[in-house]
Amino acid sequence: MTTWYDACRKAASIVRDTVPEPYRSRTFPGIIGDIKALPPSKARSLFMRKKGLGRQYAYLYLTSGIDDGRGYQACATEALDAVLGPERDAIIRGAILDVGCAVGVTAGIMGLDRVTGFDLFPDLLKTAHLVDSMTGHEHRYVAADMTRDWPFGCEFDTVVCGLVCHHLKVQPDVTVFFSSLNSVLHPGGHAIITLPAGSVATAAKFENLAFALENFGFSTDRARSGLVLSIDDPRSLFWMFLLVARKNSPVRNPVFIDPGFGFHRYRTSEKREVKGEKARATVTADRRVKHKNFRLVPLDEMAERYGDRELVFSTLTGG
Ligand SMILES: C[S@@+](CC[C@H](N)C(=O)[O-])C[C@H]1O[C@@H](n2cnc3c(N)ncnc32)[C@H](O)[C@@H]1O
Repeated sequence: MTTWYDACRKAASIVRDTVPEPYRSRTFPGIIGDIKALPPSKARSLFMRKKGLGRQYAYLYLTSGIDDGRGYQACATEALDAVLGPERDAIIRGAILDVGCAVGVTAGIMGLDRVTGFDLFPDLLKTAHLVDSMTGHEHRYVAADMTRDWPFGCEFDTVVCGLVCHHLKVQPDVTVFFSSLNSVLHPGGHAIITLPAGSVATAAKFENLAFALENFGFSTDRARSGLVLSIDDPRSLFWMFLLVARKNSPVRNPVFIDPGFGFHRYRTSEKREVKGEKARATVTADRRVKHKNFRLVPLDEMAERYGDRELVFSTLTGG
């Protein structure tokens, strides 16, 4: 049987051949930068106008983002899998919705079956189908915008949002996101949210995100939520944030979130160029290692360990 990583590699070469010449030089950070700079509806129409740009995005996702498990995005799902450990199947179970699924990363790496994935960009979903045709999985994909009402009823036992919430730029989008998350999830179901390195500046800000979910009937699993770090090699450190919350109440109220809230205000103050420079200075030539071992610093320990220091590379490596 073709493994998911093998299928991604094969799909990458197929997709690459369909990318028009002018888009072949577009980079992963460049395309992601364009997406982040635009409201979702504009980002989607940009990709509709520039036919083939979405395929370059899909190609870059399969290569830089996945890269046989070495890409940041693949590593994040591997880290989630490792941290949930033996409890995984009790938490990620039943009917599963993967919000911002890209090329079907969560389902593919975790080996989940019959997942519903949705994403803003149809080219990513077509690529996910292509990958599934090689692995034999039958997932369902829907092109939709997570900042508009989600096209689902209350039909899921698990909602996974892997590295997606930091795309929520403005307060109304955050409210639609959490309200929709609440409305599609059965009581007793779990929301699993990961956030990338740099998207949450301090332990206190991360705690606020947990409060936002608790405000409308979720309970945070404090033993499984916190900062996730790779422990293989501090010079090529991987980290992300993980929130696991259980929906307790059957009430489907809009989420209350403090008006001051917004993911853009939660980021570290470190500029992209500074981060890049530091990474280049600290990291070895074999930076793209495949991380295998991860550790969770649970919410309570995060506060104790890091206080109000910014959660940046040097803080986490003790520098
Ligand atoms: C960093 S990727 C994460 C993908 C995948 N969940 C993973 O774990 O690797 C963020 C994903 O969110 C999608 N996305 C961004 N804005 C979106 C929106 N408004 N609605 C739906 N998906 C969106 C992007 O297209 C991209 O696939």
